[in-house]
This record gives sequence, C-alpha cells and structure tokens, in this order.
Amino acid sequence: MMTLWNQNLETGIPEIDDQHRELFKHVDILFNNADADAASERVSKTLEFLEEYVEKHFYDEQLLHIDAQYPKREKHKKMHAAFVRVFKDLKQHYDTDGAKVTVLLKINRTVSEWLRIHIMVHDKDFTAYCKSLDK
Ligand SMILES: [Fe+2]
Repeated sequence: MMTLWNQNLETGIPEIDDQHRELFKHVDILFNNADADAASERVSKTLEFLEEYVEKHFYDEQLLHIDAQYPKREKHKKMHAAFVRVFKDLKQHYDTDGAKVTVLLKINRTVSEWLRIHIMVHDKDFTAYCKSLDK
C-alpha cells in the first residue's frame, strides 16, 4: 500500500501534523524498499527510526492532551500503548525472521492503516475538543 500523505489527514495542530508527515514519510520508505532489498540497511534503519519516533510522537501528543485537560486522554493513551506493542511485535518478527518482504509489507500495511484511522477518528477528535474550548 502506498501511504501518500493527503490533506484529509491534517488535524490543524501544526506540531502534530508535522510529526504525522514524518511518520508517513518513513512508512513510505518501507513500501518503496520492500521489493528491491528488504534486508537492506535502509529498511533496518527506517524500522529503528519508526520505533523511536512513534513513541516520541505519542508522548508529545499525550502532553498536549494533558495541557488541554482532554477528557479522553487516558483512552487515547491506551490506544497509543497498544499500537506500540503491535509495532514492536512486528519489528521483532522482522528482526528474527530474516527480513522477509512479506513481513515488511505487513508492517507497512499495519502501520499506515492504523495511523490513518487513528488520525481521522481520534486525533481529529482532539482537534474538535480544542476548537470547542476556543468558543
Ligand atoms: Fe494519537
């Protein structure tokens, strides 16, 4: 799956949108390198990057939720934690299973689909909440 960032994914909170774009950029690297050289250093580096960056991004988002006293912050935090577990499992599968293209495509699909839905539903809910505070 080609993840391609599009404007529908914008939450309107620049800090969050910049980080989401960065995530998609790296998920695309996985897709673009899946066929040619799944075992390449580029792929490993990208997975390492994603593992760290996903956690940093979630942490930053959660700080914004706390600052804004977002009522759904605990529920949202749990979703983040569940995704981190899924990602780590997939990455471990890739690391131990010898860098298979199928695993890589599965990671690409899982991460991009989860991100899309999470952003469209849950991150946008936070934006709506922030807007309701401004009224
Ligand atoms: Fe989130």
